[in-house]
Amino acid sequence: MSITDWRGLHGDRFEGITTMVTGGAGFIGSHLTEALLALGARVRVLDDLSGGDRANLQPLATRYGDRLEFHENSILDQPLLADLMRGCRYVFHQAALGSVPGSIEQPRHYSEVNITGTINVLEAARAAEAERGMFAASAAAYGESEQLPKIETMPTDCRSPYAATKVAGEALMAAWAAGYPLDTAALRYFNIFGPRQNANSAYAAVIAAFAAALIEREQAPVIFGDGEQSRDFTYVDNVVHANLLAAASPRRLGGAVINIACGQRISVNTLAAKMAATLDRPHLKPTHQPDRPGDVRHSQADLGRARQLLDYEPIVGFDEGLAPTLGWYQSVMV
Ligand SMILES: NC(=O)c1ccc[n+]([C@@H]2O[C@H](COP(=O)([O-])OP(=O)(O)OC[C@H]3O[C@@H](n4cnc5c(N)ncnc54)[C@H](O)[C@@H]3O)[C@@H](O)[C@H]2O)c1
Repeated sequence: MSITDWRGLHGDRFEGITTMVTGGAGFIGSHLTEALLALGARVRVLDDLSGGDRANLQPLATRYGDRLEFHENSILDQPLLADLMRGCRYVFHQAALGSVPGSIEQPRHYSEVNITGTINVLEAARAAEAERGMFAASAAAYGESEQLPKIETMPTDCRSPYAATKVAGEALMAAWAAGYPLDTAALRYFNIFGPRQNANSAYAAVIAAFAAALIEREQAPVIFGDGEQSRDFTYVDNVVHANLLAAASPRRLGGAVINIACGQRISVNTLAAKMAATLDRPHLKPTHQPDRPGDVRHSQADLGRARQLLDYEPIVGFDEGLAPTLGWYQSVMV
């Protein structure tokens, strides 16, 4: 269960409201679903389980009963989507194929799910007269630019089909907000981590991959390059909080692109050392392999726009989020 007191932060603003979370059986979507249920909302989850897991929702189904509806299907099924969207005030569009290398192998399939699927979500939301759609955009939009911090006014630099689909999603959010009553926001997530992030995938994010090495295989984690590269690692509750702030915003957001992160840089070496220490495996010193081409050296978000438009401040810091994350990996890996 979440370490955040959602009621304390968001009061009764979501009580009794019907919402849709696409990709709600995935990592971020299941946390969003959990917070919405804790806030008294009804949540319809649409997820085809291509990357998510029914087990991510099981405890919520037990706890919240029929306030949670789970539909195992694709956002590419337009009639079903239109049907499920009826009566929803907000849609949190998290469903996507999320791997950069996967997108290089299957660009057309990624475009279908991430772009056509997003149009389907917007059209269903428009037909249902939903108030607002929140889109899971990505810091991949900044590409290989070394400028710091990353600010939304920088030009995009798509280095993979995945990044291109996410930037296309932002453009779609802006277009639908400009052309129709539906309001939208594109939240650019930076390196999100937390419980339920898939560690089994070949494309696992770095914290999940290190956890699998240290806990499951009792092996030293592998670092690509010298490890002094850094990222704005962001605990998942911060992203959930930003989505809730965007949904409840009293102002029209008009498709605004907004960075969501912690606003700090942590090096991969520091991360590996903290993880080994927390897990009491200091002897598992990381090994190094050559740099991966195309990896940016540093990434850190400017949070000015998130503060200005959403009154967003990170609510869980890096160290505070790392402990429950590793606790969760231990509980599922041993
Ligand atoms: N995790 C991060 O650091 C990060 C960073 C930037 C952006 N994002 C974006 O956030 C969103 C959630 O990512 P996540 O890390 O939770 O990944 P995830 O893979 O755990 O969640 C994505 C979910 O979408 C579902 N899905 C995929 N295709 C679908 C389809 N056709 N129909 C219905 N459901 C489908 C998957 O089954 C999965 O449950 C994604 O849009 C991702 O691009 C994530």
